[in-house]
Amino acid sequence: MTSDLRGRTLLCDAFHAPTAGSACRLRDALIDVGRDGVIAAVRLPGELGYDDARAAADRAGTLLRLDGYLLPGLVDLHVHAPQFRQLGQALDLPLQDWLQRYTFPLEARYADLDFAHRTYAALVGDLLAGGTTTAVYFATLHGPATLHLAELCLASGQRAMVGRVAMDLPELCPDFYRDQDAMAALDGTRALIARIRALPGNDGLVQPIVTPRFVPACTDALLDGLGVLVREQGCAVQTHCSESDWAHDHVRDRFGRTDAAVLDEFGLLTRRTVLAHGNALTVEDMDRIARRGSGIAHCALSNAYFAGSVFPLRAALARGVRVGLGTDISGGPSASLFDAARMAVAASRMLESGVDPDLPPERRGRGDSRIDIATAFHLATAGGAAVLDLAVGSFAAGMAFDAIRIDPDAPGGTLRIWGSESDADLLATLLYGTSRANIAAVWTGGRVAGAARLSSAWP
Ligand code: GUN
Ligand code: FE
Repeated sequence: MTSDLRGRTLLCDAFHAPTAGSACRLRDALIDVGRDGVIAAVRLPGELGYDDARAAADRAGTLLRLDGYLLPGLVDLHVHAPQFRQLGQALDLPLQDWLQRYTFPLEARYADLDFAHRTYAALVGDLLAGGTTTAVYFATLHGPATLHLAELCLASGQRAMVGRVAMDLPELCPDFYRDQDAMAALDGTRALIARIRALPGNDGLVQPIVTPRFVPACTDALLDGLGVLVREQGCAVQTHCSESDWAHDHVRDRFGRTDAAVLDEFGLLTRRTVLAHGNALTVEDMDRIARRGSGIAHCALSNAYFAGSVFPLRAALARGVRVGLGTDISGGPSASLFDAARMAVAASRMLESGVDPDLPPERRGRGDSRIDIATAFHLATAGGAAVLDLAVGSFAAGMAFDAIRIDPDAPGGTLRIWGSESDADLLATLLYGTSRANIAAVWTGGRVAGAARLSSAWP
């Protein structure tokens, strides 16, 4: 009965955070979901028209009461789909060794479409079950497997951006996993853009995204060609930017400039560019990124393992940089954006207080760095959506109805609600306490999304 909410008026208890600092509860809200899956109206008790609308929906038989709590669907800005197979592995290695010894050999295996299907079907199902309604994916440099990932997102109802990875620099990329040359990478990328856009039934739910792995893996010719392709095709862009000292220094040694400056010169800093990590960004980089309207995928968990530093989130927000959250599967060992949000808070607290007990408290940390869980909630929803320029992430007219229902009483769940919490404390409890068992339903565009929809497409 609740699998298709299009054309219904929902009576529900919801939380959202359309802007940083604006988290609020929409108690007994009436949400009209249009036939197109887009929210037509949101009304709260006491507002003009609320009683009439509720009575009218009741009379028409379209009123639907949803128990528990609704949250906007979560937006994961940075997922390496092929790396799902090594989640939690080799996290003790430095980034460059982890790439060469684990990641590139694993990604090379996605030449095998069957292998890809088994990983990608499990991943898309798990992400949706965990509340991730929008995901931005790095795939591999294989066309068929990458197209298949896009098909699986479409079939299961996950909003997604799917990128065929481009990487052609022989000094960094091994022979067994490298684009032959810039032309091969550009042709492969262009072909994927066309194929993803032409998937039957794809009304924009799944979009292609231009994906230079990172500057250290790409020749100048490739970066230049991808910049041209982005302009020509009007495509989104994703890459890694100033993640670690090693990656950051690599770019500075080669170009004498920072990652962000180099990406900008190649036309790759756009209004729809997602830059993963950004830990070593300078103030000038942040201003440049804000001017271009690009955004950061803040991957706090992954940064703890590979970046050697904490992303200065508050500083970036203060300079007008758009920011959302990423799991960075498998640089981060959790596929849950709830975990990403929790870690974003913890990392910000450690940046503020500092971590070396031998230093006096006043010299230990960096002031004004911490965020609270409500800010992390904003980043995980509306913040990430803003980076992608997608009309999702909050409950307001004009937004697609992408949402999750939290059931605090679900068997095997991990929530304890006592009933005396303030709205702010209740939201914090939901965000810190929800586990997969508590996520009772997931919708995109008003329709239930999840692995169950796959079985009809791929028995
Ligand atoms: N830099 C280039 N490739 C990768 C990757 O796969 N993961 C992370 N964390 N950083 C990268
Ligand atoms: Fe990454």
